[in-house]
Amino acid sequence: MEFSMLFIVSNIMLLLTTAFAKTASPSSSLTPTPAPAPAPDFVNLTELLSVAGPFHTFLGYLESTKVIDTFQNQANNTEEGITIFVPKDSAFTSAKKSSLSKLKSEEIKQVILFHALPHFYSLSDFKNLSETSSTPTFAGGDYTLNFTDNSGTVLISSGWSKTKVSSAVHATDPVAIYQVDKVLLPEAIFGTDIPPAPAPAPTPDVAPAADSPTEHSADSKASSPSSTHDGSSSHKLISYGIWANLVLASFGVLVLF
Ligand SMILES: *[C@@H]1O[C@H](CO)[C@@H](O)[C@H](O)[C@H]1NC(C)=O
Ligand SMILES: *[C@@H]1O[C@H](CO)[C@@H](O)[C@H](O)[C@H]1NC(C)=O
Ligand SMILES: *[C@@H]1O[C@H](CO)[C@@H](O)[C@H](O)[C@H]1NC(C)=O
Ligand SMILES: *[C@@H]1O[C@H](CO)[C@@H](O)[C@H](O)[C@H]1NC(C)=O
Repeated sequence: MEFSMLFIVSNIMLLLTTAFAKTASPSSSLTPTPAPAPAPDFVNLTELLSVAGPFHTFLGYLESTKVIDTFQNQANNTEEGITIFVPKDSAFTSAKKSSLSKLKSEEIKQVILFHALPHFYSLSDFKNLSETSSTPTFAGGDYTLNFTDNSGTVLISSGWSKTKVSSAVHATDPVAIYQVDKVLLPEAIFGTDIPPAPAPAPTPDVAPAADSPTEHSADSKASSPSSTHDGSSSHKLISYGIWANLVLASFGVLVLF
């Protein structure tokens, strides 16, 4: 009888503990949690590209090839970040349209992947990059770009296209988007038979950097994962309490009979 009393007492204590855990967890999630590990701010690439530019042609290719998902995923989920070179709509008009329209869909995808680097580079970082001979792009393998820093102007060579960064659309870690004057045509697709340089391009209009979408970052921070963490740990505690109760209850039954 004393044993069963002991079990009943410990059962009650366990019930109180679980009840406490149940009531404690909602109140703790009400207290403002300190900022969690700073999640990289969400930059909506589609939105950014649809309001700047006009970059509709490039955005259209990004969407039709689904490369937008690759880039957005890199922007969302990596420390490395991303640097994208975006040709204006006029660059596609002046790029021999035929050269793009002749490509297979897999090659078009490679050309679009070729326009981004799997790392965030600020404009000043290109001084460093110009010392490396070939910088890998998202297209991988032989799809590399060469950079030259010409007293602050970033020149880009793809083999077939030589162009420059004409404006910074967005340059906040982890996302850099730079406007370029020409479509970057990879040597890996077009070969090394470089065409004669076309007539010099008109002076590019250097647009000011677009405002970073801070409202969006605030929104994404609000849904921090800290409260779900609290929830899962208290859930474990509760299940443990229920399990212990069951074991102890069966012991109590055994002792009583
Ligand atoms: C990103 O922006 C586009 C265009 O404004 C919108 O259609 C899309 O829903 C946005 N995506 C997210 C995840 O907010
Ligand atoms: C990027 O993050 C946004 C906001 O968290 C999300 O809606 C979107 O689905 C994510 N996209 C990818 C490709 O990870
Ligand atoms: C520049 O390059 C040097 C040597 O390659 C490297 O040690 C340094 O960290 C680089 N700086 C930046 C800002 O990437
Ligand atoms: C990049 O630079 C390297 C070394 O200078 C050179 O061999 C290569 O042909 C260049 N590639 C392009 C695409 O300009």
